[in-house]
Amino acid sequence: MTGDLNRGLEGVTVAETRLSRVDGEAGELVIGGFPLEELAPSATYEETLFLLYEDRLPDADELASFRKRLASHREAPPEAIDAVTAAADRGLPPMDAVRMGVAAASLARDGDETPETDSLLAVAQLPTVAAAYWRARNDEAPVEPRSDLRHAANYLHMLDGAEPDEERVRGLETYLNSVVDHGLNASTFTARTIVATESDVISAVTGAVGALKGPLHGGAPGPVLDMLHDVIDADDPADLVHEKLDAGERLMGFGHRVYQVRDPRAAVLEAAAERFYEGREQSAFFDAAREFEDVAVDVLAEHRPDLTLETNVEFYTAVLLNGVGIPRDLFTPTFAVARAGGWTAHCREQLEDNRIIRPRASYVGAEGREWTPVEQR
Ligand code: ACO
Repeated sequence: MTGDLNRGLEGVTVAETRLSRVDGEAGELVIGGFPLEELAPSATYEETLFLLYEDRLPDADELASFRKRLASHREAPPEAIDAVTAAADRGLPPMDAVRMGVAAASLARDGDETPETDSLLAVAQLPTVAAAYWRARNDEAPVEPRSDLRHAANYLHMLDGAEPDEERVRGLETYLNSVVDHGLNASTFTARTIVATESDVISAVTGAVGALKGPLHGGAPGPVLDMLHDVIDADDPADLVHEKLDAGERLMGFGHRVYQVRDPRAAVLEAAAERFYEGREQSAFFDAAREFEDVAVDVLAEHRPDLTLETNVEFYTAVLLNGVGIPRDLFTPTFAVARAGGWTAHCREQLEDNRIIRPRASYVGAEGREWTPVEQR
């Protein structure tokens, strides 16, 4: 028995989760029971992580102790720094560096590994290896992590070598919370598949980073930023969109497999970007992006009246991350920094009631071939 073929597993339910609920028709995202609109701008990343792991918010003492535990794992082993430095020296893509760096987190284990300690290690070390890669690419020495800073603040500190102001930290935290989890997306499914074999959480996160690297999943916000720079220089943004679509290109930052309406994360990130850019020199960039969004949605509707192509998460991701000072080439690694919370929470959830994930393939190859020795072929 082979069952129905379902390419891409579209519409197939293979797990139960309490971590996030995605409603593609209503345009709703609920994380750990909270509407995204409420959680993302209010929580620190540590609170969101605790929520995903424990299914409740921490009280003040629990939060302080959780933050301390997470921060105690920030220092990456020297071999991880060597690997990301080698990747930078040889011009490898950022996500290759991050994959090698986070894989080396196994070397930082002290004592017996558990899904919980591996989760904290992976989450804590992703920003360290991403920042060390970036600094190596700019011929700068890595900056030691600081245990007194929040997760987002420490990441910015390791990138710049200076303590960031609170507005940048809040902007980044809102981003991290907005993309921390999103149902059974490709990288999360990868992580669950790996851990379901009773492998380990660091292996699962390493595989998930590999899945996130692909342009169909985590690679869109960099090209969105490039497009926005083109738009600012263009005489008529609508012409630019027509040109791209007529050339058969896809407009980055628009369209989504699940959402039939505007991605709810776009609204949360737009509001965060608006707060961030207000009164700043670059506020014209935010205004241009917002105007362009309207133009792009109209042209897409005109070009493809048969489809609903609305703004997705990546459009305002590019706007917000650019504002808070994340370099373009670190947009996807920063997505990994955020999503590591979801990956590790899914691993732990999978292990609570584990069953190996093993779908089938429908065989379409040859039958009945006769073997001939190599000398006779
Ligand atoms: N611009 C122009 N045309 C588009 C776009 C777009 N942004 N998105 C989809 N289409 C068209 C496709 O060309 C295709 O047309 P066809 O039927 O004539 O071949 C049709 O819509 C369906 O496309 P699929 O790829 O089958 O639809 P799917 O729902 O799987 O696509 C995806 C989702 C991959 C996000 C797509 O909308 C896309 O490529 N968008 C641009 C890239 C992007 O922004 N990616 C980030 C997504 S958010 C995330 O995953 C984190």
